Amino acid sequence: MNQHADLLLRGGTLLTPNGRQIADIACRQGRIVALGDLRQWSSDQHLNLTGLHVLPGVIDSQVHFRQPGLEHKETIEAGSRGAVLGGVTAFFEMPNTHPLTLSGADLQAKLDIAANSSWCDYAFYIGGSASNRNEMLALEQLPGSAGIKVFMGSSFGDLLTDNDDVLRQLLSHGQRRLAVHAEDQARLIARKQQLGDNHSVHLHPHWRDEQSALLATQKVVRMAEQAGRRLHLLHVSSAAEMAFLAHHKRLVTVEVTPHHLTLAAPGCYEQLGTLAQMNPPVRDQRHQDALWAAINNGLVDVIGSDHAPHTLAEKQHPWPDSPSGMTGVQTLLPIMLDHVHAGRLSLQRLVDLTSAGPARVFGIAGKGRLAVGYDADFSIVDLQAQRTIRNPWIASISGWTPYDGRQVTGWPIHTVVRGHVVVQDETLMTRPAAQTIKFTESFFAEPS
Ligand code: DOR
Repeated sequence: MNQHADLLLRGGTLLTPNGRQIADIACRQGRIVALGDLRQWSSDQHLNLTGLHVLPGVIDSQVHFRQPGLEHKETIEAGSRGAVLGGVTAFFEMPNTHPLTLSGADLQAKLDIAANSSWCDYAFYIGGSASNRNEMLALEQLPGSAGIKVFMGSSFGDLLTDNDDVLRQLLSHGQRRLAVHAEDQARLIARKQQLGDNHSVHLHPHWRDEQSALLATQKVVRMAEQAGRRLHLLHVSSAAEMAFLAHHKRLVTVEVTPHHLTLAAPGCYEQLGTLAQMNPPVRDQRHQDALWAAINNGLVDVIGSDHAPHTLAEKQHPWPDSPSGMTGVQTLLPIMLDHVHAGRLSLQRLVDLTSAGPARVFGIAGKGRLAVGYDADFSIVDLQAQRTIRNPWIASISGWTPYDGRQVTGWPIHTVVRGHVVVQDETLMTRPAAQTIKFTESFFAEPS
């Protein structure tokens, strides 16, 4: 056997399917070709990883990179640059751009931008709506499509499916796991009218209350069970939803976000004002505790950042005219490593949530696992490194993070995308030839 690698990672502590092991990794043509004691191997490039932990590349399955149309908030280039600086090696991007991503042409426009500017691998969601409901099966199978995303409650942008008949049709016209933002639109409208002239952002979780989330979650899960369709519930935020979802795991997978696990009302609104405003909202400690319980009992499948940048000027509008959303792709791994350091979850569980979980839930081909034959995507971290997260570190066009000034323990040091060292010693290197993420359930022949 030819024992020459393009890239050799020496002496890291690997998080493999067999558990933790100190070993070397050889990569050739973007894939892992050997794991173990590889002292006999030679290579064009090597990294000495003594003292560092090697995780399968983190896959962020929920980001809003705003391009095309909203480039003053974010671009695919800046968003993905933040991703790799934060140790993320692949992303799924959301369809509430301008124009909305509703057709094959809309998807292709994003794929063209990403092919020329992304720092890591990518897939794009297509929005499910009344206008394209009959084309779901074809759209979800397109190369580069992450599947279909539905907004049941209005958030940012015009994408909304608040009609039960349309929702039923979307559920019956596709096969891949349908991703859902579950908040009940009728209840949101009714409760907003009751708010009156109060501009306190503290009302955000009262307006979009636990019941708004629960009603929509219950409705879509019951409809999905009637249709026999698998669902992925995005950013689950409440105790009641977790209790309900525990009885529906046959068809339903669950995402939580780092901000729902880290921030809590009322303190976050006191400290951050509208910077803490997200949909669904950050709620009080009781809900955060329920989300952590669902992390620890295995109910949660995936952590996604819901990176949703708006400019600071936009965020300064008085609530509720301030847009909901905060950055998160670059801080996902540092914040979660800090939770690992604090003993809230194990590193193995984190890998399950950020690499193996997305691969399993969405049927991602060749990613999410440190194993021979898989893509050479690595998030290489120092579990002891202490850093302070600061706004100037944030690559997003919006230029801010709710964690500005927060000290964390655990930090991404090197990021490797299919054998290409994109970040080395926390420094951005050159852009890799980023590619579409491939899916086992929408297999399409490609030139190799
Ligand atoms: O807070 C949010 N902002 N939640 C969403 O679901 C959408 C997002 C955005 O696009 O700004």
